[in-house]
Amino acid sequence: MCGIVGYVGNEQAGPILLDGLSRLEYRGYDSAGVAVYSQRDQRLSVHKAKGRLQVLSDMLQGGAAVDGTIGVGHTRWATHGAPSDINSHPQVSRSGRIAVVHNGIIENYAELKAFLQDQGVPFTSETDTEVVAQLIEYFCETDKVGILEAVGRSLRRIQGAYALGIICADEPDQIIAVRKDSPLILGYGNGCNFLASDVTAIIRHTREVGYMDDGEVAVLTKDGIQCYNHLMQPVEKEISHVDWEVDAAEKGGYEHFMFKEIMEQPEAMRRAIFPRIRDGEVFLEDFALTEDYLRSVHKLYIVACGSSYHVGMIGKYNLERILRIPVEVSLASEFRYMDPIVDDKTLVIVISQSGETLDTMAALREAKRLGATILSIVNVVGSSIARESDQVLYTWAGPEIAVATTKAYSTQLAVLNLLGLYLARLLGTMPEEEYHSVLEEMLLLPAKMEEILSDKDDIQYYASQYFNHNSVFFIGRNVDYALGLEGSLKLKEISYIHSEAYASGELKHGTISLIEEGTLVVALGTYAKLFEKAMSNIVEVKARGGDVLALTTRTHGEEMRKTANGVITIPETHPLLLPSLGVVPLQLFAYYVALMRGCDIDKPRNLAKSVTVE
Ligand code: AGP
Repeated sequence: MCGIVGYVGNEQAGPILLDGLSRLEYRGYDSAGVAVYSQRDQRLSVHKAKGRLQVLSDMLQGGAAVDGTIGVGHTRWATHGAPSDINSHPQVSRSGRIAVVHNGIIENYAELKAFLQDQGVPFTSETDTEVVAQLIEYFCETDKVGILEAVGRSLRRIQGAYALGIICADEPDQIIAVRKDSPLILGYGNGCNFLASDVTAIIRHTREVGYMDDGEVAVLTKDGIQCYNHLMQPVEKEISHVDWEVDAAEKGGYEHFMFKEIMEQPEAMRRAIFPRIRDGEVFLEDFALTEDYLRSVHKLYIVACGSSYHVGMIGKYNLERILRIPVEVSLASEFRYMDPIVDDKTLVIVISQSGETLDTMAALREAKRLGATILSIVNVVGSSIARESDQVLYTWAGPEIAVATTKAYSTQLAVLNLLGLYLARLLGTMPEEEYHSVLEEMLLLPAKMEEILSDKDDIQYYASQYFNHNSVFFIGRNVDYALGLEGSLKLKEISYIHSEAYASGELKHGTISLIEEGTLVVALGTYAKLFEKAMSNIVEVKARGGDVLALTTRTHGEEMRKTANGVITIPETHPLLLPSLGVVPLQLFAYYVALMRGCDIDKPRNLAKSVTVE
């Protein structure tokens, strides 16, 4: 989705803004632009271009062609108005003296636009953002107020979700930042300050950041940042130190971020798991939910989107099994429209890599409104979901840049399993011996993942056999079904192959009619208890001419080879943990298939890393 970067200091802003935007490219965008104020020329210059950031960068000679030490930049993901130079941000007011970059949606833009047009204000773009620039200028002119006051008056009129970066040629030493329901981060430098929608955009310049809260307005000059609450009363911002390394957000010699992040999984798993197992017990850091409260919980409700939802699906199987209390899983986008049965005895577990997914955020707020306690499993530190939850468990996966999630998925799953084990111990619902043996196995997961990653040749070979297929089915039962959902999503999102996941038992209720000579079916049979059933489904598929690529454990590899066309095996582990290993070959399979099809793996078409619109 859209990205914002802003800079005010003593250096030329152009190259800094373009570099910041390049680090936001992974979020997905269709056009880019910058607005820089030149003290020399005493004017704002705005440059925008549809398409890749490189187009803008070439136009501006890497930023050298724009003069000025203060500016804002933007990568746009079109909502109102098609991708075009005109609709790109920054959007400017009619005099050209106010420039605005915006993430989110101004819901009442049509009404405001009509009002301004009635006042004779001409519009040039189809965007909702232009309304903001024009409205601020309208208040400056008609009410004869300064830019900050005009921003305040405009905010009282606009509705929706927004992060805004505003500069004005009449007060050219400051950037005004506004946040409501869309993330915005302040970066504190030395003689310079920054604004960004994502810390990756500014981490090369500063590690000292402040997370803006909803309704806050900030004024950035090169000498400091002053924040105000929604009543425009000054507030002190807490400054946090970002401790991950700059190269964590760089490719480091890998061709794609996705591959790098797949390979980083063992390390990410160590960070997520090892500090949370102490003396043979689960230890959850800064865990504030009381034992009394947890004992009173009568239902768990997991809400999330996409891959995070798939983690929740595995959670349903695993947590119900070890806790013996109902676990519901809901797509966050459905949750708030389904009148969910949630009360103060429901623990709602919100899962999100970015911590900014709008649907997930809305579900969190709805659950809170209904009285639930919110525990979130989040990767991005300081993100909105983390801050609005009663309890956060961070996944510590490090920055995930590829749109297709890999290490965030694995660590979410690890943390959810740890939470389940913690609760099982507390509630006494799991035999002690099994509890300890799962924990021992969890400590072995990173090394077992390394084994899979060091033996990728088979997976690459199967990708070469099947990359030309146009349609693929993933089948499995129980956790293998939930795992299939993720394998299928991974494949379709980066390779553009039509792919669906089904519970194997459902095949005969309809889907089997699609199986014909050569149809590829990825059959997941890692769960030993249901291995025979998995074999029967494979036979069913083969009888209709389907080509079966199977995934199972080493123990069952030989047996599987007698029937399936191809077999990928994973090391043995405790059944609760099988998907943690099983997902790795599926990620690699999707990656190699997409590579062989020549797809844009890190930035698949139409997708964004963090989905901050409904
Ligand atoms: C997965 O590869 C996706 N890119 C997507 O489904 C993602 O998991 C989903 O948008 C949820 O994002 P979140 O975890 O940041 O909330």
